Parts: sequence; structure tokens; C-alpha cells
Amino acid sequence: MCGIVGAVAQRDIAEILLQGLRRLEYRGYDSAGLIVADGSGQVNRLRQVGKVQALFDATQQQELRGGTGIAHTRWATHGEPTEKNAHPHVSDNIALVHNGIIENYQSLRDSLINKGYQFSSQTDTEVIAHLIHWEQQQGGSLLEVVQRVIPQLRGAYGMVIMDCRDPERLIAARSGSPLVVGLGVGENFLASDQLALLPVTRRFIFLEEGDLVEITRRSVHIVDQQGNSVERQEVESQVQYDAGDKGIYRHYMQKEIFEQPMALKNTLAGRVSHGAVNLDELGLAADQLLANVSHIQIIACGTSYHAGMVARYWFESLAGLPCDVEIASEFRYRKPAVRPGSLLITLSQSGETADTLAALRLSKQLGYLGSLAVCNVPTSSLVRESDLALMTKAGAEIGVASTKAFTTQLAVLLMLVAHLGRLKGMDQLLEQQIVHGLQVLPARIEQMLSLEKRIEALAEDFSDKHHALFLGRGDQYPIAMEGALKLKEISYIHAEAYAAGELKHGPLALIDADMPVIVVAPNNELLEKLKSNVEEVRARGGQLYVFADQAAGFVDCEGMTIIALPHVEEVVAPIFYTVPLQLLSYYVALIKGTDVDQPRNLAKSVTVE
Ligand code: M6R
Repeated sequence: MCGIVGAVAQRDIAEILLQGLRRLEYRGYDSAGLIVADGSGQVNRLRQVGKVQALFDATQQQELRGGTGIAHTRWATHGEPTEKNAHPHVSDNIALVHNGIIENYQSLRDSLINKGYQFSSQTDTEVIAHLIHWEQQQGGSLLEVVQRVIPQLRGAYGMVIMDCRDPERLIAARSGSPLVVGLGVGENFLASDQLALLPVTRRFIFLEEGDLVEITRRSVHIVDQQGNSVERQEVESQVQYDAGDKGIYRHYMQKEIFEQPMALKNTLAGRVSHGAVNLDELGLAADQLLANVSHIQIIACGTSYHAGMVARYWFESLAGLPCDVEIASEFRYRKPAVRPGSLLITLSQSGETADTLAALRLSKQLGYLGSLAVCNVPTSSLVRESDLALMTKAGAEIGVASTKAFTTQLAVLLMLVAHLGRLKGMDQLLEQQIVHGLQVLPARIEQMLSLEKRIEALAEDFSDKHHALFLGRGDQYPIAMEGALKLKEISYIHAEAYAAGELKHGPLALIDADMPVIVVAPNNELLEKLKSNVEEVRARGGQLYVFADQAAGFVDCEGMTIIALPHVEEVVAPIFYTVPLQLLSYYVALIKGTDVDQPRNLAKSVTVE
């Protein structure tokens, strides 16, 4: 989604802004722009539709000197992706970049038009620029002006404002959209994501909801929602990320698929040993809270929601804990009846997904026992606002299509199931089986990844297909859903997933020779049922691709291709069977020639609802 970078320095900062935007490219966007001021009255603004590279090329034609500036990648909400709609937006001397959505922009726009302002874009953002300009005429410092404007805005924003006549400072405001201050020596920075600033600093201050900040080269002044000056903790970033480093891989997604054994090892390290799960990191108080849990409510979006669906099978069958799972955007707008003793678990790679965060905030008034976040970003809003947190240790995930974040989420959830199960009197043998399954999983996935060439060859069959069906049963049903999401997300092939037993209730009508049907078939107690469903498809001329345990007894035949997979411990089979489906989508997308890491219309971190 949209990205922001800002800098106040003595040196020329155009290159830093551009480099920052490049590092935010993975979030998904459709236009980019920047504005730079040099203090002598000279101001340069450049905006381009398309990639940051186009903006970079434009900067080669025009010298951009100046030590203060702001830059932006835009993911269109109000108005199509055009140069005029790209940020920064200006109102005379005021320049502004903005992430989020201003819900009352239409009434503000009407009143500004009545005051004589002319609009050059269709965006909600331009309204803020004119509003700040208008308020500035009424007097006060830029910080005071922005303080007066903020109560007039309804919606979500992370924004950075520059007065081009006084480019000694930048003002930024955060409400519903993350912002971080990067601390330099004699220079300071702002960004929507620390990744943008890692080449210039590793020292960060994460702004809190409602914070306003004024940065100059030598100072950082933060004011909270109530208007009080506040100190926020400085954090040394531990994030390892090199934008240029795809290593031997062609895409981040491919790299991230292959990183899964290591990501899982890192996520398990120190948490499983001697047949037991150890989540002492949650603290003593957590055990008291968790001991009272009699119901789990999981909230998430997209891929993270699929992880929640798998976890539901585990919580109920392994720990005997009733569990419900819901998409955050639905949960937040209905009036959920909360069961007594319910723990709210949010799942998110980024920890900044607007709907998931809103659901967490809503839950605080609803009477849950507490909240626990499973997240990949320790400094995220979700982690900071939850009572408890368990981190996945997947490392930065750059590809928009989530891969290693999903499998590590599942590993954390399975450990949590064992931990809660133990508090509820789960059989020790079962905990040992879970731990064993998790410990051998990285090696099993290594083995699976060696089948890459086989899956690559299979992808050819999908090159002319427009639809696909994914089938699974039990805890493999959400894996089928995740497989379908991956395929549609990066190859743009329409794909749907069904619980295999549901086929005959409708989707069977779709089956013909043009409909590939992908089946996940581990050797478990549902195998025979699944085989019957496979026969239903075969009898109607469907093209089957069965990812099956090598001992499951499937054989290649007309209309049915078997991809025999090594044996895996049953309890971790959902994690294991995810990987071949990721590879399949990846290779289909390669054949289709899509933008694998930044698929069209999508954003990595969905910070608007
Ligand atoms: O950062 P989150 O896990 O909260 O993101 C949720 C979804 O936006 C995300 O999983 C999305 O579905 C991915 N692009 C799927 O690959």
C-alpha cells in the first residue's frame, strides 16, 4: 500500500528518498512522486505513473538539489493512478504526502471550493494540503496549524507536511497508518516503514496513535493526542534486509519459499525441546490468563485467516478448546456475542492490517479475557496494542504473496495449541508428538523443495487455463484455500477452493476437461473419503493433479497426475502441503509473465480498510 519517506538533512536527499521508495516498492503501488526544497526558494516536484524506476529516470533529466523533502508511492483509492493524482500534493507553499483515507473529504472539499481553492486532483489528500494552507493564513507555527487541522479530519492517516518556504522542518501525524522517525547525526528522517530508512539509520522512534512530530536536522519533538510533549522510546532496529539481495533467486517470492526451512528453525528455536513446548517468553502473568481460557476467537485477513482456519482444527482436536475464526473486516462490523473465557487471537504478518487492528481495538470493549497477537513484526501496532504476543521469526517478507509468514504462523499456532493444551491437561504423549513433528518439519520441507523441477514442469499444463479448483478435507481444506489464493494472486487465474465433500453440492457442475482440479492428499484418516471425491471428478472428465503422500496409494492414469510427496508427520501435514502449492503458483505465474513480487492491484500491507 502507499509508502512515505521524508528527510531533513544538510546533504542533498533526493537519492535517499528514491532509495527509500525503492525499498517500499514491495508494498504495492501505482505511481510515485517526490518534492525537494533547498532553502533558497528553489522547490522541485516530480511525479510519475508506474514504477519508482520511472521517477528515477525523470530525476536524471532534472537536477534535484536540496536537503529537505518528502516522497511517496501511491496505491490509488480516490481517483485513478495518474500523474495529477500522485503525491506530493501542494497548496501554494504547503506540500504533503499521505497514506490512508479521509472519509469526510467531500464536505471538506466543498467548503474549500467555497473559500476559493481550486483542485487539481481527484484525491482526498489534496483536501488536507488546502486545509493546512487555509489554516496557516490564520496564524501559528506549522505544528500548531496541523494541530488545528487534525480534528477536522475523519478517517485514517499517516502524513508528512513540508512548508516549502521554511524547509527546515517536517511535520508528521499518525492516526491509523504507521509512521516511524529515523534518527541520524545532524539529520533526521520519516517513513511509513523502517525498511525505507535502513541504509541511513538503524535508530528509530515508532510513533504512537495520535502522535504528531516535528523533525528538524537536530531535533525531534513529539506531541501526543492530548497535545502534551512526550518522549517515545528509541529502538535499535534488528531487521536484516537488503533490497538488492535476492541471492540466487529470480524473485523474492521464490527466495522466501526456499527460506522456509530456516524460517521455521528460527521460529522454533528455544521454544521446543525435550518433547515439550516452552513459551515462557509470554511471562508468568500469561499463564494465569491462559489457564482461564475456555474459548478461542481468531481474527485475521487473507493468508493469515487461512492460518487461523488450520489452527481451529488443531485447537479443537488437540487441545479440546472450542475455537472460532473470522475475517477481520466482517468481525469488526457485526455485533459479536462474546463467549465467557474467550481469548482473542489476531494473526498478521505485518501487524498493520487496518481491519485486523480495528478488530483488536473493538475487542477491548467486548469482554474478552485478553488478546494475543501472532505477528512477524515486533514493532508493529498489533504487537504493541495486544496483551500478549508471539513472534514468528520469518525475517522480512518482501513478496506480496505471503509464504514463509504463513508457515511460521502455523508453527507458532501449533506451539500455542500445545501450550494451552498442557494447561488444559492434554496428554503428554500428544505434546511430544507435536514437538517431534515440528522438529523434523524443516528437514521434511527441504526434501519437498527438491521436487521443484517436477512442479515447474507441471506448471506448463496451467498456462492456458482460466480457472482452477483446489480440494482438501479436514485441516487440508484451509490449505486448499491458501493454494487457490496464491494461484489467483500471482498468476491471475481464477481459482476457488472447496472442502472436497462439498463438491457434489454444486461445484461438480463446473468439472470438464478445461478445469484443472488440484487435490491435497496426505495419508490420514480422511484419505478414503477424499479418494471417493477424486473419483467423482475423474468420472466427469476433470483434469486432476493430486499432491499425495507417496504411500497414499494413488497412481498416475488418464486424467490424473500424481505428485508423490515424501511422508510427513500427520500433525504438521498442513504446513508441509502448503509448500508444493506455493511452488506451483510461482511457476504458473512465471509462465504467465506476471509481476510475481508485486502482483497488480495488490499491496503487501493493507493499511486502509
Ligand atoms: O499482514 P497480514 O498478515 O495482516 O496481511 C493479511 C493479508 O493482507 C495477506 O495475508 C494477503 O492475503 C497476502 N497477500 C496473501 O498472500
